[in-house]
Amino acid sequence: MLPFSQFDADGRLRHLITLEGLSGEQIRELLDRAQTHLRRPGEPPARSRALADVTVANIFTEPSTRTRSSFELAARRLGADVLNLEIQLSSRVKGETVLDTIYTLQSMAVDVFVVRDAEPGVGQYVAEHVAEHVSVLSAGEAHLSHPTQGLLDALTILQYKGGFRDLVVAVVGDVRHSRVARSAHQVFTALEVGELRLVAPDALMPDPGEMPGARRCATLEEGIAHADVIMMLRIQKERMAQAAIPDAHDYFARWGLNKQRLKLARPEAIVMHPGPMNREVEIASDVADGPHSVIRQQVTNGVAVRMAVLETVIASRHQRRGGR
Ligand code: NCD
Repeated sequence: MLPFSQFDADGRLRHLITLEGLSGEQIRELLDRAQTHLRRPGEPPARSRALADVTVANIFTEPSTRTRSSFELAARRLGADVLNLEIQLSSRVKGETVLDTIYTLQSMAVDVFVVRDAEPGVGQYVAEHVAEHVSVLSAGEAHLSHPTQGLLDALTILQYKGGFRDLVVAVVGDVRHSRVARSAHQVFTALEVGELRLVAPDALMPDPGEMPGARRCATLEEGIAHADVIMMLRIQKERMAQAAIPDAHDYFARWGLNKQRLKLARPEAIVMHPGPMNREVEIASDVADGPHSVIRQQVTNGVAVRMAVLETVIASRHQRRGGR
């Protein structure tokens, strides 16, 4: 078997399991396409029938509100049929069970599987086994990858800052356990962000050698000084041993982003958070809801990005089928 690739034989995006390996140009194309799906506040959302003959199955085995509704709305607004399944797909039950499920759904003409799982490798495993016209999109893989989140974060920065090269971007909090941070690192590296900082207590910093090129900062103050973008992360309790979970009060005192600390960043800095937020743990409420916050715009952009990804993989399928 050939090594796994997200691209088809003609180099078109077929699956999206990770942002690793996507060029800056490929990412910009996805962001351009996503922008065509954005509307002014108050206007009705973008809709088309571009995916009218397509069926999308959302298979989520970890809790999710935002990402799941976002993928569902994206598919529906493009005219697709959508199935939501809460079944255990993880590699703990790898083998016939997973493939039976996938082949059963494929027999009902599912064209796109959207997969979220706490175990690494599930999305790729499914992608390696589906029929040629079928695509698999990751909606979050363990602590490793959350590609559409990386794209929506990049789109948000592009909207507010117009580019990436001159920016200082600080990713703050539980970087170690965060798939959002890993996808952010991949997307910002591909887009050549000016400076990427990882800002975390020692215990929440990724292993040395991971996320190369980023500057590691051991205090919040150093990490956000003159930053243009501050991306706050949730403590991923579900990926930690009970004893390792920091005390919320102490954490907020040292690592929480409050109004006072935000003054260290550039005056026009934007504050991001993938959600769900823990108010008064990693972020003060008045910052989360304050003038620097673009957190709600991130959510809006999520739908546009997922529409763009769905359209892109379906377009590559049409071409594989003979359109070329
Ligand atoms: C993130 C996730 O699930 O990875 N949330 C999201 O997708 N919007 C981040 C988190 O759970 O902290």
